[in-house]
This record gives sequence, C-alpha cells and structure tokens, in this order.
Amino acid sequence: MKVDFYRHGLTAADASAVASVLDSPFLTTGSVSRQVETQLCDYFGTPHALLTSSWTNGALATLLAMGVGPGDEVIVPAMTFIASANIVELLGAKTVLVDVDPGTLLMTPEIAAAAVSSHTKAVIPVHLYGQMVDMAALRQNLDEAAAPNQKIYILEDCAHCFEGRFDGCRPGTYSDAASFSFYATKNVTCGEGGAVIFREAGLYERALETRMHGMTASAVDRFKGGRYNHWDMTRLGVKANLPDLLAALLPSQIETIDGRLPERQALSERYREQLSDTPIRLPGRSVNSLDACHLFAIGVAEGCRDRAIFLLNDAGISVTVNYRALPELRYYGDRYPEAAERCPAAMAWGRQTISLPLYPGLPREAQDFVISVLKEKIVPLMSKER
Ligand SMILES: Cc1ncc(COP(=O)(O)O)c(C=O)c1O
Repeated sequence: MKVDFYRHGLTAADASAVASVLDSPFLTTGSVSRQVETQLCDYFGTPHALLTSSWTNGALATLLAMGVGPGDEVIVPAMTFIASANIVELLGAKTVLVDVDPGTLLMTPEIAAAAVSSHTKAVIPVHLYGQMVDMAALRQNLDEAAAPNQKIYILEDCAHCFEGRFDGCRPGTYSDAASFSFYATKNVTCGEGGAVIFREAGLYERALETRMHGMTASAVDRFKGGRYNHWDMTRLGVKANLPDLLAALLPSQIETIDGRLPERQALSERYREQLSDTPIRLPGRSVNSLDACHLFAIGVAEGCRDRAIFLLNDAGISVTVNYRALPELRYYGDRYPEAAERCPAAMAWGRQTISLPLYPGLPREAQDFVISVLKEKIVPLMSKER
C-alpha cells in the first residue's frame, strides 16, 4: 500500500482565487496581501502582520529590523530545522545552541535564561511539531536574566504552529514577533510563503522596510495617485514579500484552520493510543498546550533508525526526519564543536526520530497500515538493537 507523507487540501475555489489575481493587472504584493495581513491580525489579535516569501526570509527581515549583527548572540534550540539558526549565521551573529527538554523536546524558559549573556540580543523559541513553548514564562525568565539596560527580543518560530495555543494564548501574545511558514507541507500553505506578526509599531515599520530591500515605499505606493513617487532607502533589507498570486491561496485556509484541527488531533491521538504499548518513544505533551499537531514524530532505538526508514519506505510508506540535531550537521558541528555535548537530549532524539504520515484526509486504512508496519517490522527491529 502506498501512503503519502502529506497531501494538501486546496480546492477548485482556491484555483479560481488565483485565477482572479491573474485577471488583474497587478501580480505582486498588493490588495490581496493586505487583506490577508488584516485577516492574520484579526486571527492572532495582533496590531501588525506582514506576509513574506517564506518563514526564512520573513524571520531574516525581522532580525534585521531588530538590529541583530556581528557581536550579538541569539539563543536557538538544537532540535529544529536549520533555518531557525541559519538566519542568525547569515547576519554574522553567533548562534547559541541550547538543549531541549527530553520529554517535550521544546526549549524551556529555564534553559534559555541560563544561556543569556551580556551579548544576547534575541531568543528564537521553536514550537516544535505544533506544541508551544510557555511564552509567558520565557518572557519573564528572560527579563529576569537580562542586564538592567539589555533588551532581549523574542522571535517565535511558529513554522509548526499556526493554530496552537498555550494557556489559551496564541503565538504573538508575549513575543516581539512571531514568524510562520506556508511551505508546501504546512498546516496553512501556499507552496512557498510565510508571515510575521508584531505587537509593536516601531519594529513592524522597520520590518516593512527590511522585507523590501530597505525601501521606504512598496510597489503599490510607488505608483500611488496615478504618478511615480520617489522612495528612499534608510536601512539594509532583503526581498521577502509575498506576491498576491500566492497570497490568494491563504484566506480560505485561515478561515477554516481551527475547524480542521480536530481531524489532525484525532489522527495524532490514534497513533498515540496504538503505539503506547510498544517501546516506540513518543514526545511528551507540554502542559496547558493546544497542540497544532503539525507533525507526528516517533523515536526508535538509536542504532536502527536508518533501517527502520528503509523498511517503512520499502512497505510504501513515506516518512521524513524532523530533525537531526543541529550540532550533528557538518556546518554547525564544525562551527560550534562544544554544542553537541551541551545538548544531549536534542542529540539523542535527532538520532532516533522519524515523522509519520499525517494530514487531514489521511485514510483510516492507510493509518492502520502504518501502525501495523510499525508493530510488525519496526518494534522487532528495536528489540534486536537492545
Ligand atoms: C521549525 C522550522 N522553522 C523554519 C522553517 C523554514 O520555513 P520556510 O521553508 O517557510 O522558510 C521550517 C520549515 O520547514 C521549520 O520546520
């Protein structure tokens, strides 16, 4: 049986939303993007939002707007996708890789606060797999760890967590900025895309510029009033805007995202129940968290992960690895050789983990098949390994 890792749920209505942008003379960032930004502000209860061409470019524009650069340190968990740290490296700042909780696999407020130094400029908590870090506690711990005149920014990595909450609070409630991904496999997708939300007007206005080369006027504004308007460049930026062509795919998904969560929860719960009596390791649940259930990751015995992937693939099941810990990768291992020892929980999980197929619409028989292959082929492999 062939089981896909992911399938999008876009429909003919989404295709006609794109077609109507094609019918207009304006293809890049314009009125459709503005409408989606307003929709995001309403959804998250934040005053400002910017659509971006990806999580990566949006987060890079945001760190630029925060003034992160050489001499600064940014704290990032070692269990995440490379993008969370690459944006720090690209700006010439130092990534301070920290460990995660061995149960939830999330960076904790205590771990982050312990890594604060007088050079710390920002922290990037990652809501891994859809579960949120306790953001209120993180804010408080960082405030306590900071020197009297030290401002420590928080940029939330919400690539896995659009619809999740912690203590009823959505992303963006306690941070300076929260960055989302609309990449092909995400819970809300337009193929490639992202967004950043902000509480403070000043940071938003700077990011509005760093999203577009540092220019003081958008494409629409340059032609406002039916004539060409000059613009200035006051700071260095990147090109990180999202065109209306892709933005047109987002409104219907944002509108329905909360209604689609129960199906993701039910699929995750079923994996959990069915695997609970096996030696397969499951991430712990973070207290008070409403999980966005973006990925369902399991842990198998360390030495047999690659063989397990082979057996799953051989049975027709598509899986991924999210993630090998950053110090395991050559660039980060070479650059920060002491990080691996400092991050044992992330390193161990990164050698065990496999992500299983999960998407709304995953047929019941397909999930049953995945579970049966795990029980019949992977569990015996694990006991041999011990
Ligand atoms: C945790 C995490 N952060 C950042 C990103 C980067 O997102 P994008 O591909 O939109 O740049 C991803 C993408 O998969 C991710 O999983």
